[in-house]
Amino acid sequence: MTTEVNTATSEEFHQRMHASHMYGLWELASQMTQHPLPKMLPYMWPWSLVEPIVRESCDVVPVGNERRALQLFNPGLGGRWASTNTLIAAVQVILPGEVAPAHRHTPTAIRFIMEGSGAYTAVDGERIYMEPGDFILTPSWAWHDHGNDATGRVIWLDGLDIPLVQALEAMFFQPYSERQVPLTKPAAQSARLFGHASLAPAWVKEKPAASPLLIYPWTKTYDALMSLRDSEASPYEGIVLEYTHPQTGGHVMPTMACYTQLIRPGEQLLAHRHTGSSVFYVAQGQGRTIINGIEFVWQRGDVVALPSWVLYEHANTSATEDAILFSISDQPVLEAMSLYREEASEEDGGHQLVTSAFEPVIV
Ligand SMILES: [Fe+2]
Ligand SMILES: [Fe+2]
Repeated sequence: MTTEVNTATSEEFHQRMHASHMYGLWELASQMTQHPLPKMLPYMWPWSLVEPIVRESCDVVPVGNERRALQLFNPGLGGRWASTNTLIAAVQVILPGEVAPAHRHTPTAIRFIMEGSGAYTAVDGERIYMEPGDFILTPSWAWHDHGNDATGRVIWLDGLDIPLVQALEAMFFQPYSERQVPLTKPAAQSARLFGHASLAPAWVKEKPAASPLLIYPWTKTYDALMSLRDSEASPYEGIVLEYTHPQTGGHVMPTMACYTQLIRPGEQLLAHRHTGSSVFYVAQGQGRTIINGIEFVWQRGDVVALPSWVLYEHANTSATEDAILFSISDQPVLEAMSLYREEASEEDGGHQLVTSAFEPVIV
């Protein structure tokens, strides 16, 4: 009898408390999880699904006031504009003669050129022409527009920290007064100033938080990977190189770290995990990544979203061809907040058992 009275009292008490927007810590304790439990799913957008949609978008969607960029939504995030909890990846296509109107925004953007040559992005009055494999920056709040002077379609992967900026309620967007920003600097000026390995211009005193080098060309990236192909490397990520800020040696952007990695033919890397989410793009080759026991079989053009703290391991499944991945992660944010952690797998031999195969979620 006494117990029933207490229960009724307790229920009524909780209802009154909730009605006034208060909750007891005793109700929320389960959210203090022992380790991160991401809502986002490990997910893959295979090029075989993306390419037909990109192709069709060229006919269906004009480049009007918005860019023709296909945003990759993570099915675990309930329709949020997000591929991971902090990052959005998108596939953008621009046709010959098109110009995407100039604007700026507080989210930071990077591009990795997937296909085609001769399109450009103009950043703060400097035009940067694109070749496949080039890595191009658009720092936070820099004016930018894109155009295509060439004869074929140009496709690139966009990576932005939009979900992070939204979570921090720091979104600002501004269209430019004209369709394009006037060019005030010679083309490729940033590459001439800052694009020399380990040699930075000493008279430039300003050290912006984002790398002042706006393009990291594929030829240099590829040469660097190849020159290291016989060297010892990370047992977890292979021959992994970070794109760095030329003046500080630090991450390329305050909110995003970007990497390129070579996984040699037949190489099977060991499993590890870290805090922070990332997106990787298969620039070359074929292989597989096991993420918490789920096997993702990938090839050139596929995009994979990796949640925080999942155990993952990459392998190149070809006996003859190199695999090259490009990736972006929110690691600088985690580090700035002293939340970055990583650990290796303690499972047998550093490898996981495959428990299932990835299947795209079609709704
Ligand atoms: Fe933009
Ligand atoms: Fe890693």
